[in-house]
Amino acid sequence: MPILHTAARAARRAAEAARGLGRRRKYAWVPWWAPVRNEARVHPHSPEERPELFESYNAGTTEYELLNWLHATVMLLKPATVLETGAADGIGTLALASACRNNGFGTVHSVELDPERAAALGARLRSRKLDGFARVHCESSLDYLARTDTVFDVGFFDSMCEIRAAEFRLCLERGIIRKLAVFHDTSPLRTRTLDGWPTPDEHAAYRADVLALARDPRCTGWYESPLSRGFIAIFVAPDAGPGPATAAGSSARSTSAGKGMAPPDASLAVADATGDGGTDSDESR
Ligand SMILES: C[S@@+](CC[C@H](N)C(=O)[O-])C[C@H]1O[C@@H](n2cnc3c(N)ncnc32)[C@H](O)[C@@H]1O
Repeated sequence: MPILHTAARAARRAAEAARGLGRRRKYAWVPWWAPVRNEARVHPHSPEERPELFESYNAGTTEYELLNWLHATVMLLKPATVLETGAADGIGTLALASACRNNGFGTVHSVELDPERAAALGARLRSRKLDGFARVHCESSLDYLARTDTVFDVGFFDSMCEIRAAEFRLCLERGIIRKLAVFHDTSPLRTRTLDGWPTPDEHAAYRADVLALARDPRCTGWYESPLSRGFIAIFVAPDAGPGPATAAGSSARSTSAGKGMAPPDASLAVADATGDGGTDSDESR
């Protein structure tokens, strides 16, 4: 009965699109063409990660809730420069760049290794008239960070889990990050449901290295959320200078909060995550 199957699939898609319309209103910056799906249908999870409470575009893109928090945080902190390592389909870059546009200034430096993805992102930024607020660097993040003179106010480390801690370490050692560093995919349960990559050892090393760097004297505190794919936010002293990273130990604690859970600048912890479209910005086009 191929006709019945096709009709059933079309009905399911129509129902998903209708559900997505309601969800979309929560995220003013999301482009019209990007589906808003329930995370539980997009990505494998353990029940404790509560994926049903989250929404996402696809498995390679960060959940909308975290991107929306970053969008709101950029609007709150008014950074001149934002770093993103790993762009994939560019949804995160759009979230960050549209926040800079709302501020009226600021540049997102998005570093993407894959030339096709980098080119597609450039086109997406131009079509949404966001190219004045973002630059795409098509190269390895580690090469770019070893060379650039740009000092980043906010860093979103989202390339491959295996190198994200090294990216941040390089930024700390070169004195090119201040204020905030965010790491995605840090849920301690992540490799329970993922098939093969990253391996449990690689993922445990990622968490341990990030949490060790969070104890570097230039870092003033950190916060971890274990929900969905998880994230860790590290607060960096605004006047952090260059020098070797002297992170104490590498044995990560698996609690959901670290030293200084209340960051020195309390505004960092209260970025509005509602994004319910109540602004008068033009970003919903
Ligand atoms: C998880 S996705 C990024 C998702 C994106 N930040 C978002 O929120 O929508 C990871 C991306 O990192 C890229 N990548 C992998 N290794 C990289 C490297 N060494 N330097 C830069 N990008 C890299 C991959 O090509 C992929 O597109």
